[in-house]
Amino acid sequence: MRTPLMAGNWKMFKTPAETTAFFEKFLPLVAQSTHADVAICPPFVNIAAAVEATKGSRVGVGGQNCYWQNKEGAFTGEVTPAMLKAAGCQYVIIGHSERRQYFGETDATVLARTKAALEAGLTPMVCVGELLADRESGKTNDVLTTQFTGGIAGLTPEEFAKIVIAYEPVWAIGTGKVATPEIAQDTHKAIRDLVEAKFGKDAAAAVRILYGGSVKPDNVTGLMAKPDIDGALVGGAALKAEDFAGVVNF
Ligand code: 13P
Repeated sequence: MRTPLMAGNWKMFKTPAETTAFFEKFLPLVAQSTHADVAICPPFVNIAAAVEATKGSRVGVGGQNCYWQNKEGAFTGEVTPAMLKAAGCQYVIIGHSERRQYFGETDATVLARTKAALEAGLTPMVCVGELLADRESGKTNDVLTTQFTGGIAGLTPEEFAKIVIAYEPVWAIGTGKVATPEIAQDTHKAIRDLVEAKFGKDAAAAVRILYGGSVKPDNVTGLMAKPDIDGALVGGAALKAEDFAGVVNF
């Protein structure tokens, strides 16, 4: 059985003080929620506050991106996975569509960052997902295959066993247009089939595939009822303690 993972991606929101205030409200609401793993990925500057606030709780903390090597160096603006680990992170989001769209992330850098994150002992949440134009022109599976082949298939089986995949259709992110549970399920199944073809049946049965894109307390239950949906990567609804607790306690 795959333990669900409910992860919040705060994107570029909140200050350290707001981070502390969030957890004061949020932690009591999920203290009994042992059915799922829970994580929040705040902006880098809030990681210390998040780690401090979640000490002794079941809630993990993650980065939203990391550099593709662990060796320190002259790379202004970058953070190594080892630094995230040392700061108390357990997770890191890699290859989010916003990084692909606005910051030049490619499948090759996704693969390199994922390997570096694993080397540092983090659990990477590797994101894939198609644009609206891809879906409308029937290219969803081609796009996912390309992203899988370039960004994930280059992992060793041992490395693959430690990652989480996040399927985030770009047309559902921040738009309020959640994928129907049926569309999400079909796509998750297609991704699991790619995993099986490359890494085998056991790896496909074990890997957690999260859905992301306009997940809210009132649509999460339908999504989580589907057999190949193993959790959620949540943007907007993760910013409010009550809303994210509503998602976690689906
Ligand atoms: P929303 O939940 O705001 O649509 O964002 C989804 C997302 O991009 C999470 O990584």
